[in-house]
Amino acid sequence: MPAISAYAPGKIILFGEHAVVYGRPAIAVPVEQVKAHAIVTAEPRNPVGSIHIQALDINLDTWLTNLPADHPLALALHSVIEALGVQQPPAFTLRIKSSIPLAAGLGSGASVTIAIMRAVAAFLGFSLTDEQVSTLAYEVEKLHHGTPSGIDNTVIAYRMPVYYVRNKTLQTLHVAQPFTIVIGNSGITSPTALTVGDLRERWLADQAYYEDLFDQVGQVVQRARQFIEDGETQELGALMDQNHALLQSMQISSPELDHLVQAARAGGALGAKLSGGGRGGNMIALVSSATAAHVAQALEQAGAVQTWITTIRPSHQNRQ
Ligand code: PMV
Repeated sequence: MPAISAYAPGKIILFGEHAVVYGRPAIAVPVEQVKAHAIVTAEPRNPVGSIHIQALDINLDTWLTNLPADHPLALALHSVIEALGVQQPPAFTLRIKSSIPLAAGLGSGASVTIAIMRAVAAFLGFSLTDEQVSTLAYEVEKLHHGTPSGIDNTVIAYRMPVYYVRNKTLQTLHVAQPFTIVIGNSGITSPTALTVGDLRERWLADQAYYEDLFDQVGQVVQRARQFIEDGETQELGALMDQNHALLQSMQISSPELDHLVQAARAGGALGAKLSGGGRGGNMIALVSSATAAHVAQALEQAGAVQTWITTIRPSHQNRQ
């Protein structure tokens, strides 16, 4: 039997991170330049039910039975097998490879989970809907994030730009005109659960102050949605700057991220902000196609360890 493989993209949050945990909207898009792959190969000589896992990027080569039940890879496997109602799967090896940097705001955790779920489901003869995959992956996200909003599993499962409000029906976003974003990786790993947890403590101590910041983020997101849907994408730059300033007020930024954001603006970006959990990970900048390479270079000179240039296209062009 040939190996069965599936992949899932990375993602960036364009607007609204953190406030989305508190019920405000956010906008996220898939990033196809980075990917997680899961490859399942049958092992007919091994005992039925035995599952061998190889994730060499993280130096993991073991049997599923050796992982604690709350390990994200174990939970992803157990939950997809259980959801499909399979009692004893045939023996297989699961190989996981990913080009998505860990703990960097590009959705690595959700992407690996979703690639695994799709590959294992296909191996077992099933096909899961985007909604099923997203719901299953949300449970695994809780291990990564503590109190995830669900935006990562949603945008990665659907592979479409999304306007996301926690616990509300998903709204995909109509992108009227393509626009280009440069992503800069600060190289600093920053687990999202920590920044989300710290912000929760500050919010508990002064809810009025933070609720007001979240409301302002919500307004930025609404305006951004309108501009994206109307094709007035050059207007998004100023909104990125505003969103970054609000994240700074929430103490979610860091000197390194601020430095990269400044470097992008100085290099000709129309606006820039941190993206994702903050305190490290990635920042994004809105660019014209003429300035994209120059801004990426400016970011590398300012200390970004990696950059990607990604174009957000009208929704029907997104899935190749
Ligand atoms: O981009 P990430 O995976 O670091 O996600 C962060 C998004 C937050 O809004 C900070 C948390 C969440 O669950 O939405």
